[in-house]
Amino acid sequence: MNDIVSAKELAPNIKQFEILAPPVATKVRPGHFVVLQTEEEGERIPLTVVDSNPEKGTVTLVFLEIGASTKKLGKLKQGNRILHFVGPLGNPSEIEKFGQVVCVGGGIGAAAIYPIVKALKAAGNRVISIIGARNKDLLIYEEELRKVSDELYVTTDDGSKGRHGFVSDVLKELLEKGIPIDRVIAVGPAVMMKVISNLTKPFRVKTIVSLNPIMVDATGMCGCCRVYVSGETKFACVDGPEFDGHQVDFDNLLARLRTYVEEEKLSHQMLEKGEG
Ligand SMILES: Cc1cc2nc3c(=O)[nH]c(=O)nc-3n(C[C@H](O)[C@H](O)[C@H](O)COP(=O)(O)OP(=O)(O)OC[C@H]3O[C@@H](n4cnc5c(N)ncnc54)[C@H](O)[C@@H]3O)c2cc1C
Ligand code: FES
Repeated sequence: MNDIVSAKELAPNIKQFEILAPPVATKVRPGHFVVLQTEEEGERIPLTVVDSNPEKGTVTLVFLEIGASTKKLGKLKQGNRILHFVGPLGNPSEIEKFGQVVCVGGGIGAAAIYPIVKALKAAGNRVISIIGARNKDLLIYEEELRKVSDELYVTTDDGSKGRHGFVSDVLKELLEKGIPIDRVIAVGPAVMMKVISNLTKPFRVKTIVSLNPIMVDATGMCGCCRVYVSGETKFACVDGPEFDGHQVDFDNLLARLRTYVEEEKLSHQMLEKGEG
């Protein structure tokens, strides 16, 4: 059981929890994730660790209430407890001095990219961050990222804040201007990471993406999170979640993410009716 030390709403349907988990807080590195469960029969939810405080023994998670499990999680408040909490899982991000790095965070990915930006900056890189959301109310982690980035670009799909358009439009402009970019790291919806990878490929800029397939055990045993990278089967939970975006079969990933759409709809309807 892990206590929720603080719970905050960052934007509509986006929550931030600080959770007491001393063993995770001391070991976690940028790019790691945890898996949690709110009830014995419930689903296991993988979430990226956005920040940690080893002195307090806490880790910070940011999540979008997208379906039944994350909506149930979002109902928990400060002082409630998480039933099962496992981590840190996955491989940490590769952090080195690369030079100039562009970090792209789409939607909830703006929070997930934060620890990577912080670590890249501390390692001596010049970091350009690009974050985007559908509209200004859904933008998160703008101020946090501004503090740790050398440049920050904000986009909204509807133009209500920052540049009107997608995060990929800004990256395209930077690439076309010939600004030297040694690496791009993108975290967000699979379709966004596909667009970013297709964009950087002709420019031969190494591009790392953090894949988010459906996970179950997150220990490499069930095979549920399999993705195809360079024509080989990889398990995102133990081989990733970060991979070379130019080698990922995104169409397969996008198709697999839609596998349980009907079941997800049903469990959401049950939750709404109070049967979940
Ligand atoms: C390594 C990793 C890190 C992640 N980090 C974050 C994060 O920091 N913040 C955040 O908001 N979300 C994150 N996600 C996605 C999050 O786990 C899913 O949104 C959540 O599990 C959805 O569950 P649900 O029952 O609420 O929604 P459902 O209605 O069950 O599903 C909604 C959508 O979420 C995806 N999904 C469903 N179940 C899973 C599952 N077990 N594993 C992964 N994806 C699933 C599917 O694409 C599905 O279409 C991460 C996923 C992975 C794999
Ligand atoms: S989630 Fe089961 S192998 Fe990765």
